[in-house]
Amino acid sequence: MTAIDLPPSLLATLPGSSYTDPAIFAREQAKIFEADWFCAVRSADLAGPGAFETVQIGKESVLVSRGRDGKLNAFLNVCRHRGARLCTSETGTVKRAFQCPYHAWTYGLDGKLIAAPNLTGMPDVDRTEFGLTKLHLQEWLGYAWVCLADEPPSFEETVIGAVTERLGGPAEIDAYGIDGLALGKRIEYDVKANWKQIIENFMECYHCATIHPELTEVLPEFADGYAAQYYVGHGAEFGGDIKGFTVDGSEGVDRLPGVTEAQDRKYYAITIKPGVFVNLVPDHVILHRMFPLAPDRTLVRCDWLYLPEVVESGRDLSRSVELFHRVNLQDFEACERCQLAMDSRSYARGGVLVPSEHHIGAFHDWVRTRLS
Ligand code: FES
Ligand SMILES: [Fe+2]
Repeated sequence: MTAIDLPPSLLATLPGSSYTDPAIFAREQAKIFEADWFCAVRSADLAGPGAFETVQIGKESVLVSRGRDGKLNAFLNVCRHRGARLCTSETGTVKRAFQCPYHAWTYGLDGKLIAAPNLTGMPDVDRTEFGLTKLHLQEWLGYAWVCLADEPPSFEETVIGAVTERLGGPAEIDAYGIDGLALGKRIEYDVKANWKQIIENFMECYHCATIHPELTEVLPEFADGYAAQYYVGHGAEFGGDIKGFTVDGSEGVDRLPGVTEAQDRKYYAITIKPGVFVNLVPDHVILHRMFPLAPDRTLVRCDWLYLPEVVESGRDLSRSVELFHRVNLQDFEACERCQLAMDSRSYARGGVLVPSEHHIGAFHDWVRTRLS
């Protein structure tokens, strides 16, 4: 609430403390990130049995690995003996098992306890019962989505529902064949801002004319300040003289074969709460995953995905990548600039949303409801 009554054009934002208070962040970790489906790793990054990656989800370290049967599994990265963190590296490959560096309890790729010093002398220890704590995992769009909740929310309704709601139908995203695409480029951004700043920024385009000269050149309607996410099913159209979604409007690469005429020469942006952005253009897909690490720090992994033959051909993707890389840098700089003021007395009661940002109010309501 702001001190004065707001005119109808303006809505109140969350208060500044929402972006800085460690207690609020801890609640968000427990009630949002450890409760919802979280886009953890790109499936193809774990190529064969034993390949693993560790990621932070909420306050937990999570180990995602490929089993001998070729399927992905997710476990809490915590040894069941005395709690040592099992894997300390971010990525790697083990031959057949994960061995705890402390007392050598050893777990199979399926999480089962397979060996420990003197384990044969403890025949009453059930090897599944004392295996790694297994988490729910579902693959979609070529990514492994993990849920820490005992009873996860419906994947259909939450994750797929967000995409359907934005694009107007369930088939629209299938056209891009995202799970068959290859990684052309990945850039990690260590952003000194609260995760909600990054979502709010992504949801509005009021800032586009000010900070995104290259993007508004390619998508002239963005200069008007209405984000593509403002209207259901709407894609922002490329400018008349624009050949492709590149930093200088030059030709892109091969169009994804499933993209329809209606989707051609358009950009669609989707937010899948709480931490994923999907950006669709005719010749590639850009997918952001957010890993909130602290109230004022969020790691963002951004993947640029193209047809496998385009990536294999070694074609120059730099102008294609450069457009959204610049957008990312421009956005994250703006988020960091706001983060600096979140504990200012001037922002104690928050700020305001103009009409083209009013839909961010729905996001704030969602956050409030989830934390209540
Ligand atoms: S804490 Fe892992 S084996 Fe003891
Ligand atoms: Fe932006």
